[in-house]
Amino acid sequence: MKINLREGDIYEGKSSILLFLTVEQIKNLDSKLVDLLDNSIHVGNFKGKKYESLLVPISGRSFNRILIVGLGKREELDNEVFRRAANVGLQSFAKLKVKEFATFAEYDVDIVRALSDGFRLSNYSFDKYKTEKESKFLMVQKIEMYVHEIKDDFKKAVEFSEISCEATNFVRDLQTDDADVVNPEYLADLAKSMSTKYRLHLELLDKAALKRKGLGLLLGVGQGSRFEPHLIILEYKGDPSSKERIAIVGKGVTYDTGGLDIKLRSMKEMNTDMSGAAVVLGVIRAAAELKLKKNILAVAPVVENAVGTKAYKPGTILDSYLGKTVEIGNTDAEGRLALADAMAYVVKNYKPSRIVDFATLTGSIVAALGEDYAGLFSTDKVADKILEAGDYVGEKVWRMPLPDDYNELLKSKIADLNNISSSNYGGAITAALFLKNFVGETPWTHIDIAGTARGSKRKHYWPVYGTGFGVRLMLEWLRKN
Ligand code: BES
Ligand code: ZN
Ligand code: ZN
Repeated sequence: MKINLREGDIYEGKSSILLFLTVEQIKNLDSKLVDLLDNSIHVGNFKGKKYESLLVPISGRSFNRILIVGLGKREELDNEVFRRAANVGLQSFAKLKVKEFATFAEYDVDIVRALSDGFRLSNYSFDKYKTEKESKFLMVQKIEMYVHEIKDDFKKAVEFSEISCEATNFVRDLQTDDADVVNPEYLADLAKSMSTKYRLHLELLDKAALKRKGLGLLLGVGQGSRFEPHLIILEYKGDPSSKERIAIVGKGVTYDTGGLDIKLRSMKEMNTDMSGAAVVLGVIRAAAELKLKKNILAVAPVVENAVGTKAYKPGTILDSYLGKTVEIGNTDAEGRLALADAMAYVVKNYKPSRIVDFATLTGSIVAALGEDYAGLFSTDKVADKILEAGDYVGEKVWRMPLPDDYNELLKSKIADLNNISSSNYGGAITAALFLKNFVGETPWTHIDIAGTARGSKRKHYWPVYGTGFGVRLMLEWLRKN
């Protein structure tokens, strides 16, 4: 989809026009609109409440229809209201098979960005497996966005929006696709092709290399699968003059059966258990396209947690890359194992200045925060900035504690650590504390996206299944800081 900034009179633009109006603006319509709408706004008793919409057919003009979407009260306006209103407008037009429309965004740069994000994120559907492609009919191809004056920061906002939302939609495709398609080897191949396309340095450890180097936790998790586990490390050097290096690490469990501690519930949702890995690939791709002045490592252990005669067993003891031994209390707590080896490897061999990891790690975070908030655990001073970036882009993150006292719960009688807690409570916290053992002194932020990575139904501009949560959060934080 193209979004073009335009100056001039919107009423000379496309045949379909989308207007966003607040309650106050509806009460006080400008005279041009009053003429055009010919009172239909009052006939319909349209008040301009949030996301209320009214389609007004127009005759005898260069355009055929005006769609009005309510923004609610002026004092309650924020970026999220604009994104959701953009979703309502775009979806309504898409249902009418409108392919192009004009809209008006003369407010400020944040609103240009929010509207553009809202349009792009809602103009998405995963229809790879539909024989009748919805996207052919239900998608908008072009939006003319009118402003009084095209300023440089408006252009930048539109470009940033395009690249970050395209990356989000790319991540959604990967998350939602079938786990037999997006398997560990598929993601390893994707990393290879990305390294050529975006000129990124790649270190790719296959099963033999993982063995040689001793990533026993990652190997253990992947042992039962017909697909080989890999560790992907892509590097983007946007600021060669700086020693700063941010490692973004993502859990890449392409399917989580639970292993021999087999999942009794919700197994079929576990094709999205590689969401963290997809997010880091999306972030580095966008960083390269945007030419961000940052040095970024995208790190993803990719592995399938399968069942079978070769699968790792409850009670087994595994050797980690760091050297600590881990007793497997539960084969379903596999994400922390894969991440622990990946992070210890990156800390030792790349010495990043900080780490941020994304993982669909625990059911416990979903119980605590639901499907709209991710949980953030951090030893890094930048955590507040990440929370702020989340508020700005509408990928909400809530801070959780990392209490030393709970380390007790991860003790094993016969190994250095157990991969599960001895308590039934606070599982998201003990999972985070487990990871903390493997990052050494590196400032670290862990974001548990088990609730936000996937939705069971379409919700405003979030589609069913993969949401792409995390990509815009990271990119906004990288842009601003
Ligand atoms: N992939 C799951 C966590 C998950 C749950 C993701 C719900 C998305 C939605 C993870 O590997 C897992 O199974 N965690 C267990 C850990 C337990 C065995 C200690 C959990 O949270 O129940
Ligand atoms: Zn699991
Ligand atoms: Zn998992």
